[in-house]
Amino acid sequence: MNAVFEISAAAPTQFPVPDRFECAFIGRSNVGKSSLLNLLTGLKNLAKVSSTPGKTRQINFFLIDDSIRFVDLPGYGYAKASHSSRQEWGRLITTYFEAARPLGVILQLIDSRLPFQTSDAGVLHWFIERKMPVQVVLTKIDKLNQSERSKQTKTLLAAMKEVGYHGDALAVSSFKGQGKRELMQRIIMLKGGG
Ligand code: GTP
Ligand code: MG
Repeated sequence: MNAVFEISAAAPTQFPVPDRFECAFIGRSNVGKSSLLNLLTGLKNLAKVSSTPGKTRQINFFLIDDSIRFVDLPGYGYAKASHSSRQEWGRLITTYFEAARPLGVILQLIDSRLPFQTSDAGVLHWFIERKMPVQVVLTKIDKLNQSERSKQTKTLLAAMKEVGYHGDALAVSSFKGQGKRELMQRIIMLKGGG
């Protein structure tokens, strides 16, 4: 796979020309978005993995095999974020979703180890209300054993149903590579190819 970093955009004027199928990555700060982007592209440092949460404040665009654009959106739900940085987050995210981009799929990343978070519920519900194409991805599954994993998946899917999500949940580990192939296959299927 050939992955090229295009731009870190702070405003819509900096977004690339919308000429490719887009796959947007969204999730709480620290959920593992950058790590997953690195896993999928096979590049170690394409997206910066942060030790301090909430550092990704811009929208990063990556061109994959000249055919798909990966869009790394800034994380939400960081407890220590100030009111103004939350507003800033909301504004930037809204500009992306209102920019009439060729949005193919939104991958909403959810931490497989945690109970369903209020912030996750709010964001997921927002997409569903707008009939946007959202696919849930559970992260960090290397931290769970098989029985914890199936129990958590059930619990999380039940909670997601309450906000109107009726899809499935793909599970990944960026540390161990689990779920990478299934996720890439899903993205390609949604794009209508391969
Ligand atoms: P922000 O950009 O701050 O919103 O964070 P992010 O969602 O991009 O998360 P990032 O990839 O930077 O990872 C956050 C932390 O989780 C880091 O300490 C990673 O090492 C860890 N992490 C990421 N993926 C995994 C995983 O698959 N398994 C485990 N165990 N830890 C992970
Ligand atoms: Mg990040």
